[in-house]
Amino acid sequence: MTACIVGWSHGKFGKLDGETSESLIVKAASEAIAHAGVEPKDIDVIYVGNMNGGFVRQEFHSSLPLQTHPDLRFKPSTRVENACATGSAAIHMGLNTLAAGKARFVLVVGVEKMTELNSAQAGEVLIKASYVAEEATIEAGFAGIFGKITSAYFQRYGDKSDALAKIAVKAHRNGVKNPYAHFQKEFAYEFCRNPSDKNPFVAGPLKRTDCSPVTDGAAAVVLADVSTALGMKQAIAFRAAEHVNDFLPMSKRDIIKFEGPALAWKKALASARLDLLDLSFVESHDCFTSAELIEYEAMGLTAPGEGERAIHEGWVERDGKLPVNVSGGLKAKGHPVGATGVSMHVMSAMQLSGTAPGDLQLPTARIGGVFNMGGAAVANYVSILEPLR
Ligand code: COA
Repeated sequence: MTACIVGWSHGKFGKLDGETSESLIVKAASEAIAHAGVEPKDIDVIYVGNMNGGFVRQEFHSSLPLQTHPDLRFKPSTRVENACATGSAAIHMGLNTLAAGKARFVLVVGVEKMTELNSAQAGEVLIKASYVAEEATIEAGFAGIFGKITSAYFQRYGDKSDALAKIAVKAHRNGVKNPYAHFQKEFAYEFCRNPSDKNPFVAGPLKRTDCSPVTDGAAAVVLADVSTALGMKQAIAFRAAEHVNDFLPMSKRDIIKFEGPALAWKKALASARLDLLDLSFVESHDCFTSAELIEYEAMGLTAPGEGERAIHEGWVERDGKLPVNVSGGLKAKGHPVGATGVSMHVMSAMQLSGTAPGDLQLPTARIGGVFNMGGAAVANYVSILEPLR
């Protein structure tokens, strides 16, 4: 255990007209610093998680947190990018900085402003997180990549559209409880299961309700080393933090095996000396419902090809044996790419400190797992979190 989350903030996710990545960063940073109970001058190092790639014209984001307070001027700050795992990548950079003894307090802000573009244009940006040399001509943006993965999964194991629809229903039911979520409304099973004008096919077997939306948002954490964290009013410790990158081209991998995610989970659980079911909940990377289905297998909840059991038998529901995405996940909470990994850590910190708002709070939250994924199972981050005391 090398570091803790000692403060956090989470803005409302959605289509945030009138906000810019700068305004989102400034709000998230100032609220996280205040929540930690430290002063801006106490922050030693800053990381900004932002994928961008053309969502907004402003590309160079590292110094934007300095707009929060004059005392942040001259602090070392770096933008971090690792596709949809950008937020966790920024947090892991913070952990490495603390482990190297280069800081006592690190501020990490994750941000993305995606909705200045329409969905098709956003898809053009997102497809750059594929292996462009072979995959960029796949249609429908990143949904096209997961459309291919889902088709391959169905070919090997049979049509799992019922399970995908149930995963979407679960996400939206949980999202109703989350005031920060992009969508706070329930979707009926029949609506998610059957294609319609309001729920058309987007790519392969994936319908609109199988996809995370295009979202704006920001979240932030303040990290501290353990001895500093012992004196703080709240401290959520990293019992494990593992990062595994796999080959980028899908052609070099058995793409429905999610070997990178599986290895990241295996390493994290081994280093935490835990079994999966010791966790009270998992926040997992449901960029598409089929991603969550395969992640059940990668985390070791079921054997390969049997992920549907986890949803059909209720294991991953809020009151199941391993609740997955009680926040509503990317599907309902939204997926502002650079903010997502930070958001997952903030949602977990809230649960573990007993401070999740209203009905979002789980009755029992002792240890939580986070899985954040960049690209199609390429950049894989697992964190295991628990209260320091
Ligand atoms: N799930 C459920 N409903 C959605 C939705 C989603 N993902 N996206 C949009 N909607 C709803 C909107 O709220 C709107 O509802 P309304 O008519 O009641 O107001 C309606 O669908 C139309 O919205 P629109 O934005 O025009 O939809 P779209 O067809 O242009 O975009 C997707 C839908 C699924 C194509 C788009 O959200 C998308 O590209 N998602 C994937 C993003 C992605 O790849 N992220 C990276 C993952 S690694």
